[in-house]
Amino acid sequence: MEEDSLDLQNIYTMILSKEGSIYSMRYLVINGSPHKGNTWRLVEYAVSYVREHDKSAEFKEFQLMDLNLPFCTGCSNCFRKGMEFCPHYEKVGIIYNALEWADGLILCSTTFNVRETALLKNLIDHFCYLMHRPHFFTKKALFITSVGGVGAKGAVKSIDGSLRAIGFNRCYSYKVRTVSWNAYNPNEKVQRQLSKVSEKFCKDVMEKKMHCPKSNILIPYNLFRGMCRYYAPGTEYESTDGVYWTDKERMTRAYDKAVPLHLYQRVLGGIFCFIGKTAGKKMIVTYKK
Ligand SMILES: Cc1cc2nc3c(=O)[nH]c(=O)nc-3n(C[C@H](O)[C@H](O)[C@H](O)COP(=O)(O)O)c2cc1C
Repeated sequence: MEEDSLDLQNIYTMILSKEGSIYSMRYLVINGSPHKGNTWRLVEYAVSYVREHDKSAEFKEFQLMDLNLPFCTGCSNCFRKGMEFCPHYEKVGIIYNALEWADGLILCSTTFNVRETALLKNLIDHFCYLMHRPHFFTKKALFITSVGGVGAKGAVKSIDGSLRAIGFNRCYSYKVRTVSWNAYNPNEKVQRQLSKVSEKFCKDVMEKKMHCPKSNILIPYNLFRGMCRYYAPGTEYESTDGVYWTDKERMTRAYDKAVPLHLYQRVLGGIFCFIGKTAGKKMIVTYKK
């Protein structure tokens, strides 16, 4: 997929963006399948639909297979000291920085054994620490999967949950049954459905509207908010989690300041923060020093 050549409208919006008034939306496209097959074909359609609605969109593409990211070793350096201490930082940092760059993520994976591919799961394992310290609050995602017959729901649920847990504000998804080994061609109905969800996704990206999170995201978030004070700098098991959560603003809010909350969600956050604070006193997570 080549980046759009610069037409007059693109140049115009880029100039304006320097002034801070108009800004080209950036989309990161990640192929979490080990080849360009049925699922990638759907992504190509989705990208063309996004281009239709967002004429000045910029794209960056990653074939995850080409990154050769080794398996997560479970060293827990990312949790305790920071992502820069990951033995695979050189590779995982590339994706992290690309996510920082993007406004929208178009992610795909074939459904393998009723879940995402091991390839994509491995990337998510490297980002698991972000479930302790969510970060990508302003980002939106579109996840696409294809399946031979059954199990796509499992892949969607898994990726939707993971992206929201690391902060993503909204995750759109599209799944399709192909009944095919790499000879799938989306019919008109599928193209129509995919066009609809791609349009919704890119309009949401362009409007930059921040949505209230699902309440189930507030539970782990606020348990960490309560617990992580026991890992603040100077404590016996100090960690980067402790630094993140003892930030004054973060400590006093039930979710990130960029995201609106319903009143009941603030109350819910407060309750789970209290539970975390109480339970965390008796249950310190240790590590080998
Ligand atoms: C390792 C492997 C696991 C698969 N697991 C499932 C599955 O759990 N359920 C299913 O219906 N199809 C399964 N399939 C079929 C693929 O999901 C289906 O053919 C898909 O459209 C292929 O997409 P791709 O060409 O992008 O890889 C599997 C295929 C492979 C190679």
